[in-house]
Amino acid sequence: MNDQLLALRESSIRIIKENQANSGAYIASPNFKVYNYSWFRDGAFIADAMSEQNENASAVSFHTWATHIILEREEKIASLIRRAKQGEEISPDEHLHCRYTTDGRESEEIWTNLQLDGFGTWIWSLDKYLQRGNQLPIATYRAVESLVGYLTSFWRIESYDWWEESFGHQHVANLGSIAAGLQGCSRWENLSEDSRKQAAQTAVEIKTLICKRGLVDGRLAKWIDGTELDASLLALIAPFNLFEGTDSISRKTVAAVMSELGTFGTYRHKEDGYFGGGRWPLLSCFLGLAFIEIGQPEKAVEILQWVETLTNEDLELPEQLASPLLYPAMRAEWIQSWGEPAVPLLWSHAMYLSLQAALNESTGKE
Ligand code: BGC
Repeated sequence: MNDQLLALRESSIRIIKENQANSGAYIASPNFKVYNYSWFRDGAFIADAMSEQNENASAVSFHTWATHIILEREEKIASLIRRAKQGEEISPDEHLHCRYTTDGRESEEIWTNLQLDGFGTWIWSLDKYLQRGNQLPIATYRAVESLVGYLTSFWRIESYDWWEESFGHQHVANLGSIAAGLQGCSRWENLSEDSRKQAAQTAVEIKTLICKRGLVDGRLAKWIDGTELDASLLALIAPFNLFEGTDSISRKTVAAVMSELGTFGTYRHKEDGYFGGGRWPLLSCFLGLAFIEIGQPEKAVEILQWVETLTNEDLELPEQLASPLLYPAMRAEWIQSWGEPAVPLLWSHAMYLSLQAALNESTGKE
């Protein structure tokens, strides 16, 4: 491994550890007030990257924090499921939130809280953790048991997407995250037979829905019955492996993201006006993971090397790049209300680590 690779690997691990609270929560970004929370989505990818680097103490600490969040809401989850079964309408804000304070509370700010993908991604990350030969405490199985009931009851509802936008659709990336988690835990002997069965069945139903109504021109579409493209769709190819690399859906989705959203810096989607709509290094890392999956690791190597050129003097990676922007006129407004965009973003460091590890594995190098 060359010096630059080693340096960014070390700084990524250090930055993630420095920004993990004693409770186990990973702060999304320390220098950006709105991100002083821990998201299930970011946290699950970060914990997965850390356990892949043999940093299991950090991963376990996050999993413990997440387990408490769910167990403290076990009654709430059971009541939501009961009410839905009785045909009661449940408003978006009654659902579990996507992000929490480091000590496990909901934020009181108005936020687009309904995004169920994070819970699926968390279960997926636990499954990966188990596959590496680790064990989970009984409390975590109990939390997952509760989430299986929750996700199998509510996976169909309309929500916000990975970017906390576009309410009112069944987002394919969210559905894929839920399916990945349910598919993973359907193999766990420590879950009840009923949960395993429900999880397996729902994972199949989700994939069937995506294949029937979540495709356009042979590639994945941003939402069910839609035609838009979104870089979050790459996760269904890798790391979730819901679609094989040899599947034409995977090849066509990768080709569309490459040509429409970019390779060295990947836009979230074409309508993105957040901070003017910059390119996200972490999405280029997802693209790199997908390239490995479809048998083009050399493209992933180029992406990895490009990401290494993006760090500041403290070896930190940003959430997004300042140029070129999709909607430059919108940037000033965001900076005025929220401050400069997030640097470092822990999720960017995690995806860099995951891409590096996947490349090492695919080429058999350490
Ligand atoms: C992104 C989310 C992310 C959050 C924290 C938001 O801007 O859209 O996907 O979970 O930041 O990093």
